[in-house]
Amino acid sequence: MNDFFIEYSDVHKSFGEKRVLAGVSLGITRGETVVVLGGSGTGKSVLLRHTIGLHRPDSGEVRVDGEEITGFDEEQLIDTRKKVGMLFQAGALFDSMTVEENVGYALREHTDWDNERVCERVREVLQLVELENVEDLMPADLSGGMRKRVALARAVALAPRAILYDEPTTGLDPVTANTISQLIRSLQRRLGVTSIVVTHDIRSAFTVADRIAFLHEGQIVFDGSVEAARASDQPLLRSFLQGGGYGQTPVQ
Ligand SMILES: Nc1ncnc2c1ncn2[C@@H]1O[C@H](COP(=O)(O)OP(=O)(O)O)[C@@H](O)[C@H]1O
Ligand SMILES: [Mg+2]
Repeated sequence: MNDFFIEYSDVHKSFGEKRVLAGVSLGITRGETVVVLGGSGTGKSVLLRHTIGLHRPDSGEVRVDGEEITGFDEEQLIDTRKKVGMLFQAGALFDSMTVEENVGYALREHTDWDNERVCERVREVLQLVELENVEDLMPADLSGGMRKRVALARAVALAPRAILYDEPTTGLDPVTANTISQLIRSLQRRLGVTSIVVTHDIRSAFTVADRIAFLHEGQIVFDGSVEAARASDQPLLRSFLQGGGYGQTPVQ
């Protein structure tokens, strides 16, 4: 019996003629942080989106907390999405809402908490991402790094048991990217959450990962510890690591 909180078993997914996932099998143990590395357009975001039912596989299974979710209806998926928070690639804050409204949004949607309790929780999760006194600001007032932090606060507001990070450091300068990587690490330690971090940022990958999986042409072609990844003679992974992530801006 394994102790996976999230498990993909032989997941296939095509869009029309385009085959994106061609039999992905990967398990993420409770409390573990797995980084899924891969070039641009290899299906990293598509894989993550399967975890919360935003895509359904053509075949194969996705299990979250022991439950096979591929047949779940929207109502059942709401529970899955409470358990699994996602930090979307674009950050995706609501531009017309304050930071407080953005972070409190899911709490107001999914709990019957009164305003005071929501505000308190918002303050608490903002502190968790090292932000203070930003509640009344608008997203346009924030730097890129702050926007990521707010999006992260929003993803953890409902106290999820797992967090999915889609390219959390993309578009940030190297110093800010590093602070976000450190923050991901510290959230994992402090909250004990299971995490999947999808990235082509190799430096970030080695900072946050307990384990690295490398996605290439729709399959996981390497899956092992950080040390094993560094030492790997898997040619695709080696050239990816040496090239700073092919098809991407080199790591700075
Ligand atoms: N909703 C969709 N409809 C059609 N094609 C999609 C959809 N989402 C992703 N794709 C395609 O799937 C491939 C993988 O995309 P994605 O997972 O976003 O890659 P990445 O590894 O960069 O995150 C791309 O070719 C993309 O165009
Ligand atoms: Mg992507």
